[in-house]
Amino acid sequence: MACTRSRVVGQGSYLPEKILTNADLARIVDTDDAWIRQRTGITQRHIAAEGEKTSDLGLESARRALAAAGLKAEELDLIICATATPDETFPATATTIQARLGMTRGAAFDVQAVCSGFVYGLSIADSFIRSGQARTVLVIGAETFSRILDWTDRTTCVLFGDGAGAVVLRADSGRGTADDRGVLSTHLYSDGNHHDALYVDGGPSSTRTVGHLRMQGREVFRHAVVRMAEAIDTALETNGLTPGDIDWMVPHQANARIIEAMAKRLNLPQDRVVLTVDRHANTSAASIPLALAEAADDGRIGDGDLVLMEAMGGGFTWGSALVRW
Ligand code: UT7
Repeated sequence: MACTRSRVVGQGSYLPEKILTNADLARIVDTDDAWIRQRTGITQRHIAAEGEKTSDLGLESARRALAAAGLKAEELDLIICATATPDETFPATATTIQARLGMTRGAAFDVQAVCSGFVYGLSIADSFIRSGQARTVLVIGAETFSRILDWTDRTTCVLFGDGAGAVVLRADSGRGTADDRGVLSTHLYSDGNHHDALYVDGGPSSTRTVGHLRMQGREVFRHAVVRMAEAIDTALETNGLTPGDIDWMVPHQANARIIEAMAKRLNLPQDRVVLTVDRHANTSAASIPLALAEAADDGRIGDGDLVLMEAMGGGFTWGSALVRW
């Protein structure tokens, strides 16, 4: 049956210039390159410069996505920025980016689902497009996690990095089958009972401070593998697809071991998995759009390819998205 689909028409990303290697970190906390590589697959991460804000990163990725799409900012109906590290408590970082893009119409707002933020943003954008409320939507994932890390805590500070990625979605017509190009489905979940496993110990209404990230890594790892597997199964079932139909897995980049476990479960060869965690570390909501932009720009992801995305983050939040490029 004929339906509206949200097609990806452009993607872009931005990484801050400064690189922090594992060796650099070993000079700050009691850690070493071998531990970080073996447990996470991370070798380095990018860190925003002094004064460089989440909106600066997001803006640059947005400009690149718009240029790739051949669109101007005034053609956008909506900007969604997924971030857990906004420039300010309010207004939304999305409105700052809106102003700096020179967009004076439509709407812009932030989405807070931590590492699942981009999948949440994509889902909301798709709903706006399919309901006819918007035709052209910019979805950004932008983070400066370096600002909320406790740089004396080796169990967390080695895991994260800064960056931004963005995609432009446009309304297109489809036949309502899994062969359509665009977002085929998204599935979002959360369970607030797991607050203590991954949270920031500050905020405007609790401590009036920004706070630092706290994580029980092993607990998060255990849940991530199970929850994301469920979300992937639901995505495939909903569309009548099997793991063999997946061309590319573009997962949230938290830990190479989690990603390998996910790929193995799907019987997906590693060369069908887009991996950036080695160079970017965990950039939270920015990790999927950063990986998408890398693989689309270098020609790996091509027209008609089936792309599976999955993520899991603080809350817990988790989810999946199936998109035909
Ligand atoms: O994006 C949101 C979702 N987040 C995630 O998905 C993260 C999920 N969790 C993980 O990726 C892993 O659990 C970590 C990478 C965080 C930790 O790996 P692990 O294999 O679960 O290690 P562990 O936490 O069980 O720690 C093992 C040991 C501990 O020492 P003891 O108690 O065994 O003596 C830690 O103190 O490793 C120690 N350790 C470190 N050693 C050197 C912890 N951090 C470090 C470090 N350098 N940076």
